[in-house]
Amino acid sequence: MVDLDGIDPLRVPTHVGCVMDGNGRWAQKRGLPRTEGHAAGEEALLDAVEGALRLGIRWLTVYAFSTENWKRPADEVRYLMQFNEGILTRRRDELHERGVRIRFVGRRDWRVPKRLLRRMDQSLELTAANTTLTLTIAFNYGGRAEIVDAVRALVAAGTPADKIDERAIRRNLYDPEMPDPDLVVRTSGEYRISNFLLWELAYSELVFTDVLWPDFRREHLVEAVREFQQRDRRYGAVE
Ligand code: IPE
Ligand code: IPE
Ligand code: MG
Repeated sequence: MVDLDGIDPLRVPTHVGCVMDGNGRWAQKRGLPRTEGHAAGEEALLDAVEGALRLGIRWLTVYAFSTENWKRPADEVRYLMQFNEGILTRRRDELHERGVRIRFVGRRDWRVPKRLLRRMDQSLELTAANTTLTLTIAFNYGGRAEIVDAVRALVAAGTPADKIDERAIRRNLYDPEMPDPDLVVRTSGEYRISNFLLWELAYSELVFTDVLWPDFRREHLVEAVREFQQRDRRYGAVE
């Protein structure tokens, strides 16, 4: 159950992005290795998905591994590769049963293990026809890299300079169907974007919470949506 009191069902954000941060600190506080924090984040992710389903959110995008996270110790990077592969293996069936369509944004470069890529493709195919909620996992994702890749694709297709406009770039982002996020939530008390969906979040409402990702639950998502519903979105115009 989750208390949806005070939530206006007609003004639920269509697309919510989550920067799932604070796993390492959650573990450190408990005297555990950082990787235990990542492991504990799995429950938080599944609970956030459940919250999104209850709220009627249609798109949920979670930041799982950034193009900068390769800078971490090799052991942690290796753990994160296996962990993400594991999550897909363990959870794809239940996500599928809940009507969740799993997608990915990010670079499929040589550093991402083949096994993980295979698991990603399998999850994508299995859930491709689902329509309740699209869960996009941003993996080996960087907002700047995404814009560079979009421009490269346009240039490679021979697009003349005067045809490279905002719509053309939008159409060449990793998932052209994905709407811009209405709301982006970042956990762990950090007030920054860290290269998440740079193009797409131009007009997103941002909510920051001190909760560390492994402690994040559906109630926190509902709370963020409550805050979102207090905001006045003007897009540069006047009332
Ligand atoms: C977020 O938690 C998970 C990833 C970036 C993969 P962190 O690992 O960044 O946790 P903190 O920020 O160090 O606490
Ligand atoms: C952002 O968190 C990336 C993910 C959540 C995957 P980081 O922990 O990598 O970001 P910084 O280093 O605090 O900016
Ligand atoms: Mg962090």
